[in-house]
Amino acid sequence: MLIQIKRQVNTSPLFEISQGWGPGYAQAIGHGPGVVVGPGNDNSNVFAQQFSAQSNQQFKVTSRASSVGTPKASGRFQINWTNSGKFISSSIQIFEVTTQEKIFEFYVTAPARTTNGVLYVVAGGPEDVVRYTEMRLQEIYPINGFETFSKDNELRKKPPAIEATPAKNPKWGTPSYDSDYLRVWFRNTDFLQDKEFMKAYRAGINSGHRIGGATLSSQDIHIEWRILVCCWAAWHAKHLSGDFVECGTNTGIMSLAICNYIKFNDTRKNFYLFDTFCGIPDEQVLPEERAMGLHLQNSDYEECFETVKRNFNPYPSVHLVRGKVPDVLPSQPIDKVCYLMLDMNISVPEKAALEYFWEKLVPGAIVLFDDYGWSGYIAQKSAHDAFAASRGTKILNLPTGQGMLIKP
Ligand SMILES: C[S@@+](CC[C@H](N)C(=O)[O-])C[C@H]1O[C@@H](n2cnc3c(N)ncnc32)[C@H](O)[C@@H]1O
Repeated sequence: MLIQIKRQVNTSPLFEISQGWGPGYAQAIGHGPGVVVGPGNDNSNVFAQQFSAQSNQQFKVTSRASSVGTPKASGRFQINWTNSGKFISSSIQIFEVTTQEKIFEFYVTAPARTTNGVLYVVAGGPEDVVRYTEMRLQEIYPINGFETFSKDNELRKKPPAIEATPAKNPKWGTPSYDSDYLRVWFRNTDFLQDKEFMKAYRAGINSGHRIGGATLSSQDIHIEWRILVCCWAAWHAKHLSGDFVECGTNTGIMSLAICNYIKFNDTRKNFYLFDTFCGIPDEQVLPEERAMGLHLQNSDYEECFETVKRNFNPYPSVHLVRGKVPDVLPSQPIDKVCYLMLDMNISVPEKAALEYFWEKLVPGAIVLFDDYGWSGYIAQKSAHDAFAASRGTKILNLPTGQGMLIKP
């Protein structure tokens, strides 16, 4: 595809001067040619450059990069789009680099309402160290039918996907499922007619959640397929030895559905629910997660401890453990675990919790990661993938956005 360049957008694309580049530049320069960033992308040597942009402007990013210290590493290209300082979405691309310097080119379109962008110079995963010798941002003349890789992140908040009229496809007609950012045709969705499952689903949805704002309390946010996965996992796990654990409970949509679905009181197991019950600890949010706006989700997770106590009253072996993960984990006498749900929306406590429980998980135990496959949660995915790889296993990326792991 022939691209016509309209303007060179960023200053010092070869890192020849610090002009325009933000904090981190000083640490990244001076290690040979270009800049060296990492390990990981929460290191203080990752940095950024701000530029002005407008809705629908098209850009080309040229990156010259190689790995440092390892034969392979992942580089990461990221632009955060803002409107007068307010985060709109991110465009992210992770690419594999080797010791042999290579050029990577990407194309991206600024989303509606953009006034500014911030171009980041970062490494891909927590272990990666990358040398960049070029990070060039150019505006190009508009091209129709332009293919963008942008993963614009309206998904960063996992908002309820409630659609009054299901979208029709001219060939396929009405979808068989169309919510929670999952639209499918020709699939069997008989679980939506399963009375036992739907009763459990409604028990969860009616937990008094405030997702989407106080006025939407207990509104059906239509996450049936996600809850189905949880219920299936719990059904499987109840036949194993060990207890149930959830880190990140909020009002208990998933855990209440599970208790109802598998009749938890009959299992003679414990269910440990860990949460601050008042939101994500701000100091645990990584800079890149903050850039994605993940800390803004706390408006959905207000103080809810009393509500949760009431919700789980009928289940005497459900233990609400209030506190910050991972600090609070050792406070409970948990020996073996057969079901572990991680749903804290940020990577620091999730990574720590997975490490803490790994040896306690019995063979065949299910670990569910609620945020794993959502495009705004790359930090978490990278951390969990790295941990799984270090234990010789892999996480399955489910179409619901969840990740699933079976303990070998
Ligand atoms: C997405 S909500 C959990 C939703 C829940 N699984 C459900 O089914 O309704 C995320 C929760 O994680 C909690 N959280 C985040 N970081 C935490 C941490 N470090 N320690 C304890 N709780 C945390 C927040 O308070 C919030 O309630």
